[in-house]
Amino acid sequence: MKALVLAGGAGSRLRPITHTSAKQLVPVANKPVLFYGLEAIREAGIREVGIVVGDTAREIEDAVGDGSAFGLEVTYLPQDAPRGLAHAVLIAREYLGDDDFVMYLGDNFVVGGIGDLVARFRAERPEAQIMLTRVSDPRAFGVAELDGGGRVVGLEEKPERPKSDLALVGVYLFGPAVHEAVARLKPSWRDELEITDAIQWLIDHGRRVESTVITGYWKDTGNVTDMLEVNRLVLEGVEPSVRGEVDEASELIGRVVVEAGASVAGSRIVGPVIVGAGSRVRDSYLGPFTSIDRDCSVIDSEIEYSIVLRGASIDGVGRVECSLIGREAQVTPAPRVPKAHRLVLGDHSKVQISK
Ligand code: TTP
Repeated sequence: MKALVLAGGAGSRLRPITHTSAKQLVPVANKPVLFYGLEAIREAGIREVGIVVGDTAREIEDAVGDGSAFGLEVTYLPQDAPRGLAHAVLIAREYLGDDDFVMYLGDNFVVGGIGDLVARFRAERPEAQIMLTRVSDPRAFGVAELDGGGRVVGLEEKPERPKSDLALVGVYLFGPAVHEAVARLKPSWRDELEITDAIQWLIDHGRRVESTVITGYWKDTGNVTDMLEVNRLVLEGVEPSVRGEVDEASELIGRVVVEAGASVAGSRIVGPVIVGAGSRVRDSYLGPFTSIDRDCSVIDSEIEYSIVLRGASIDGVGRVECSLIGREAQVTPAPRVPKAHRLVLGDHSKVQISK
């Protein structure tokens, strides 16, 4: 069995971060979200992984390399534009051959891994096996309709009137028949080749499509709110460790990680919090569920429930909450008079300013 990991895409919901970098590399507890997926694939006993890459190919390749750091053999499969999840299967046809494969969306996060799913697929050998989870508003998802025995009888992409509350999660298992389906697809109204249409084709042609309703935690980290939530969840499980320098005037409470080469002075950190290598925290408060990546500086500020990417600096700005701060970003106070906000913002930035 192989894995097909999707790490291309437009990433429009995470702009402006995705104007300059791949969303699959945004760190969760200072580790790219994509790495959690690759580790889950390896733990499920899979070694051969095809990674579909788009405009950010270079960055993904720099981060993952040949896969040996994960115990994987990685092959990169360039996709000319984000033409849909089924298009990714189409361009991977030759790489996949007639092998079974797990398709994993590179920005998705599944707690508990995929070992059980893969084992079930291997034992039952349907043509496709999808993962479902109950959601409160299924209209934003691919939605499945099941018969009494849990077999999938229909799928709809973002339906106005959903037939169930079971949404598709970003992990799919396929046998080779999916290639027949994908080869026959026409682009949808949003001009993409939809994987839901491919699975529907299998159902319509009498192929067996099974489902598993997962009770564990799953999130698509495609937007900032979900990204922060996944960061919270992962930080809750970190083991406290202090390998950097913390001065006498500082106080660390709960699960706090200060990586080697980081320094904390005159500050109060209430975990779970991680401070990356080479970062400096001075005269500040870091509150629960905050990840500070490497080489950042936080001075005379308060940060809570946020992700701060590599090399960013936050200096003298009071309190920052629920924020995703990009690489090398600088957050500083404005001069008090005249009272005005001075902004240099990337395209599609979102800023909330208190009046
Ligand atoms: P999505 O999050 O559904 O799509 P997107 O990346 O275009 O994001 P947005 O909706 O914010 O514009 O994609 C899920 C995963 O699959 C993600 O890791 C990107 C990847 N992907 C591809 O590799 N190729 C594609 O053609 C598409 C649509 C997605």
